[in-house]
Amino acid sequence: MIHGKVVAVTGASSGIGEATARHLASLGAAVVLGARRTDRLDRLVAEVEAAGGEAAALRVDVTDPDDLRALVALAVERFGRLDVLVGNAGVGRIGPVADLDVDGWSAMVDVNLKGVLHGIAAALPVFRSQGSGHLVTVVSTSGLKIVPTQAVYAGTKNAVRTLLEGLRQESTDGMLRTTSISPGYVRTELIDHAVDDPAAREQARRNMADLGIDPAAVARAIAFVIDQPDDVEIGDLTIRPTRQG
Ligand SMILES: NC(=O)c1ccc[n+]([C@@H]2O[C@H](COP(=O)([O-])OP(=O)(O)OC[C@H]3O[C@@H](n4cnc5c(N)ncnc54)[C@H](OP(=O)(O)O)[C@@H]3O)[C@@H](O)[C@H]2O)c1
Repeated sequence: MIHGKVVAVTGASSGIGEATARHLASLGAAVVLGARRTDRLDRLVAEVEAAGGEAAALRVDVTDPDDLRALVALAVERFGRLDVLVGNAGVGRIGPVADLDVDGWSAMVDVNLKGVLHGIAAALPVFRSQGSGHLVTVVSTSGLKIVPTQAVYAGTKNAVRTLLEGLRQESTDGMLRTTSISPGYVRTELIDHAVDDPAAREQARRNMADLGIDPAAVARAIAFVIDQPDDVEIGDLTIRPTRQG
């Protein structure tokens, strides 16, 4: 059941996170939105409320553990509990390791890995006190089929995959569900920040426009894993364009 669940989504200001929040709200979830671009979050809250749904938003930088604690606290204050945290916020920089994009590496570790850890630190105590909770993370097919130019990005995504499997094995008392969603190419803004070189960026955008699937498809996959009965955990779900190699 999704109706009545309270779901916090990081990276809800665009792409997969925005589509997920919109879809879950349309199914009757109360959604609690976190990202840095609050103007976009506020517009989405207004849209959800205008459609009769429930939503709240907060400026969240997932690299700051306090921001995740505040997001979880907002869910509890406004809606009484937190059923699901979707750890979706992410950044992707593409390029060979030999380019030594040290700042890009740090950003990917800080947002993609530490951001998820901060979410876990904030949500687990609440899940434990409620006796139930669900952690959904958005990882990537980059971690399943390792390709050149995505080594560090894939490394951060597979670190999260490993983290969730370890947490799953530590949490077999039936109170916590964990899910790693692995999308392939999805048409979002991720690619706009992936490379600095304008020609390479344009090429990447064209590839994405040609191959990428709609973020709403990933939103439906996330809804599917949340919708399972409490004693059913979908651990991993891969969703990619039919034509992706
Ligand atoms: N698009 C794909 O092909 C694809 C494939 C596999 C996996 N993924 C993963 O899907 C997730 C969502 O990405 P997307 O494709 O939807 O890209 P997107 O449109 O660029 O969305 C990324 C989201 O992450 C947020 N974000 C980035 N840094 C943040 C930070 N420090 N604190 C809080 N929020 C932050 C952004 O919000 P603000 O900038 O407003 O903070 C934005 O809402 C990512 O984890 C990405 O790695 C994407």
